[in-house]
Amino acid sequence: MPPRRAVALALVAAALGVGHALFSAYWALGGTAMLDTIGGSLEEAGRDRDPDLIAGLWVVVVVKLVVAVAAPILVGVGAATLPAWARSRVPRLLGWVAAVVLVVYGGVLTLVGLLIQAGVIEAADDADHRAIAWHAYFWDPWFLLWGLAFAAGLWLTRPRGTEAPVVDAIFAEPRLAAVYDALDGDRDDLDVYTALVDELGARSVLDIGCGTGTFACLLARRGTDVIGLDPAEASLNVARRKPGADRVRWLAGDASAPVATGPRADGGTGIDLVTMIGNVAQVFLADEDWAAALATASAALRPGGWLAFEVRDPARQAWRGWDRAHAYRRAHVPGVGDVEAWPEVTDVRLPLVSFRWTVVFAADGVSLTSESTLRLRSRDEVAASLGAAGFALHEVRGAPDRPGAEFVFLAHRWVPPPGAAEEGTSDDA
Ligand SMILES: C[S@@+](CC[C@H](N)C(=O)[O-])C[C@H]1O[C@@H](n2cnc3c(N)ncnc32)[C@H](O)[C@@H]1O
Repeated sequence: MPPRRAVALALVAAALGVGHALFSAYWALGGTAMLDTIGGSLEEAGRDRDPDLIAGLWVVVVVKLVVAVAAPILVGVGAATLPAWARSRVPRLLGWVAAVVLVVYGGVLTLVGLLIQAGVIEAADDADHRAIAWHAYFWDPWFLLWGLAFAAGLWLTRPRGTEAPVVDAIFAEPRLAAVYDALDGDRDDLDVYTALVDELGARSVLDIGCGTGTFACLLARRGTDVIGLDPAEASLNVARRKPGADRVRWLAGDASAPVATGPRADGGTGIDLVTMIGNVAQVFLADEDWAAALATASAALRPGGWLAFEVRDPARQAWRGWDRAHAYRRAHVPGVGDVEAWPEVTDVRLPLVSFRWTVVFAADGVSLTSESTLRLRSRDEVAASLGAAGFALHEVRGAPDRPGAEFVFLAHRWVPPPGAAEEGTSDDA
């Protein structure tokens, strides 16, 4: 949901714009009231019903209405129903141009008018002083206020880029975290990882980006020594209430900074398996952050320990289905009520894809949004990053629940053979 102040300002801008357009339409239709406050040749042409002026006035009406309506749309009003491109970069840029033109035009003319009123600038002898006063105190400040309200609305909803919080609202906002699992649906995707825990005989697991802890608690209930790491406190609070949560060590933290995992429950050193489930790997946008997350995983693992995670295959362009028509969800959450949610893509600048979730709570009608950006890396890029982080790629599997859409990477912390150089990885995928 756009900030309330931005919506209020945009609606003020829209009202000012529509008001201005209504005056122009009235004069275009032949009305003459207040025409004398305009003055000069425009007034004359208006009274004479000059066809060129009438046509020009209708163009002005349309332009004013378009600019007026653009303000609320560009700040995000109607985001749930309007297509995402309506608020994308180019329309917002055009909005800025319109707002700046209004501010400069209205500002300069107001200033000149006020200077004339103050006697600092002298008007021509035959000047229409009444019209000049109306311009200085009414018509031109109107343009100025319209432009200022529009610009302020745009400014308050500007994309924050790298200033965005580390964790998206969908994980970090308590109301959203509380309904995350219900909206996420069944978790068939976890089967491949539980099978892997058994296959590798892993007795200790660090689940990076554990979120609401579904996988960590599942493993804990099966007797695995589990650490769940996530920067989103709200998600961890949901996790802590799940069956098995008391047997998980929960760590609040960002994987792109070193993490102290502490000793294993069985007294051993180093973790057997690090997992990143639910496309956690894609939240690391910058290469340095991804490399740092891999370094965190490596530092936590015992020599030869395993790393398993998945990423979307960029070639499958999964984001094309991230819209209301394809991904609308509805769920009943005990204690919360009915909740509906849908995503929409807000920007695609590969390898980055940005999208917004809108979640509507039926109980109180509140609608919350969460902005996210994911980084898509190709299979080769991921493989190269693993090698650079000291992992040997063992295998790249498909995710059985999403055939062909995902790569599940399985790598192990590389241990140089005695006497070997500190370089080299194997890729037996
Ligand atoms: C799509 S969710 C997956 C959650 C969980 N693994 C699951 O499968 O349900 C991505 C998770 O990554 C977490 N995350 C975001 N930035 C992170 C970071 N820098 N370090 C670790 N986890 C992060 C988010 O808080 C969120 O819980």
